[in-house]
Amino acid sequence: MKILAVCLGNICRSPLAEGLLRREAEARGLDWEIASGGTANYHTGKPPDPRSVAIAREHDLDITGQRSHQVTADDLEYYDLVLGMDRQNVEDMKERARTQVQREKVHLFLEYAGLVGSDGPDVFDPYYDDRTFAGVYDLVARAAEGTITRLG
Ligand code: 4NP
Repeated sequence: MKILAVCLGNICRSPLAEGLLRREAEARGLDWEIASGGTANYHTGKPPDPRSVAIAREHDLDITGQRSHQVTADDLEYYDLVLGMDRQNVEDMKERARTQVQREKVHLFLEYAGLVGSDGPDVFDPYYDDRTFAGVYDLVARAAEGTITRLG
């Protein structure tokens, strides 16, 4: 199984999703490929935002090795499941899809994880508000668990 988490910049939300999905998969002994990407190229090649690094570190999760990359239609071919953090990310990825099969790989993260209703539909963008990173972490952690439970 190959999973790609997608947000806008690939520095705040999807790096947390990548790290947490990988941790959940490994905890269940699943040797899956987990990655993340951004729909925009603003931060290509950059490490995750220091605020995401800090909140991850508080939870013993190291995401410092990640580097931002912009998603392409090739990613939609390569990965089995593409999880957009918000509805705009999902829409943008679907627009990038070249085939119906690729389109159908794209899902809204919280919906896929079964969290819409209590928390959905979007993992909100924390970029402009430092205080929101802890809430984003908690939401992404629950969604990562829900996703791997659904698939495992
Ligand atoms: P992310 O957050 O999509 O969760 O990585 C953002 C990062 C950068 C920007 C916006 C959101 N930006 O406008 O540069």
